[in-house]
Amino acid sequence: MEIAFFSTKPYDRDYFDRHNERFHFRIHYFETPLNAQTARLVSGVRTVCAFVNDDLSAPVLEVLARRGVELIALRSAGFNHVDLKKAQELDLTVVRVPAYSPYAVAEHAVALILTLNRKTHRAYNRVRDGNFSLDRLVGFDLHGKTVGCVGTGKIGAAFCRIMRGFGCEVLAFDPYPNEALLEAGIEYTELADLLRRSRVVSLHCPLTPETHHLIDAAALQKMTPDATLVNTSRGALIDTAAVIDALSERRLGALALDVYEQEEGLFFEDYSFEILQDEQITRLMTFPNVLITAHQSFFTEEALNEIAETTLENVDRYARGERAMNAVS
Ligand code: NAI
Repeated sequence: MEIAFFSTKPYDRDYFDRHNERFHFRIHYFETPLNAQTARLVSGVRTVCAFVNDDLSAPVLEVLARRGVELIALRSAGFNHVDLKKAQELDLTVVRVPAYSPYAVAEHAVALILTLNRKTHRAYNRVRDGNFSLDRLVGFDLHGKTVGCVGTGKIGAAFCRIMRGFGCEVLAFDPYPNEALLEAGIEYTELADLLRRSRVVSLHCPLTPETHHLIDAAALQKMTPDATLVNTSRGALIDTAAVIDALSERRLGALALDVYEQEEGLFFEDYSFEILQDEQITRLMTFPNVLITAHQSFFTEEALNEIAETTLENVDRYARGERAMNAVS
């Protein structure tokens, strides 16, 4: 079995080559992202392996199907970037890695909260510059504060447990409450109530038509002006223009993003010598109370091992004609 592997980074090769010693697939690594043009690079290959910012819209799937591809193996949990209806029409099987260390993402969300709150990123630079002043580095105790978690699946549940460990009151919103969290004393409530009561709001639900711009101007109006909003899930959960307005008008205390609405073509790449053309991210980067990381929540050794192992197992099952595990439909 041969695999055409898109958006390859050096770390992908490291982990996939190591795990492929067990499977012996022929992997053709392409650095380029997958899109309607690069899909034409695929030839004589039944499997394409794609990541979160690869284009798997209908036109791209059509090219892939015409070129003999049968299996799309996503090396991600999220699948909002795949036109599943078109995939089904074209008889393309789509598989994913449903869970790879939820702790990696939950812990990154906590890292963002602690950094923004205690300003360790500013302190690090100050001290290296010989500036030992504490002026304006004041934070707040998380202990005793109310933290809202939107979406309590695998990652949200891990996040809730960590915040309980900090001594926070944890509120949750999810159409399908998690029994174990209820038993652990987490209070489920409506989204509007969660937004009104929480000092920190962290998003852990998938991006779907229902959750697109879940945090819009009206939702931001409900939050307290000292609230911290954290998004490690998918960029389009937040209306970026609305959040920029809220920050400009001091109606939001702080914002931490690991994902961004227009991150395709931007995140995972080095533009440090370029003039950025994206007006929204450049504006966001000017706020002292905004912290952005470039979709790195998943980036732990445990998660990378799990992603490589599960992706190759998914392909292996398909190659053996076994029922697709982790199929998305
Ligand atoms: P999951 O499927 O275990 O949980 C998602 C939860 O969201 C479910 O409990 C579901 O009922 C809930 N939900 C659905 N619609 C909702 C709504 N309208 N409001 C509130 N909750 C809603 O997914 P998991 O593994 O916890 O991942 C969550 C998301 O995290 C993924 O969809 C993905 O977008 C993102 N993610 C981000 C990563 C990163 O590196 N930044 C890495 C992995 C996942």
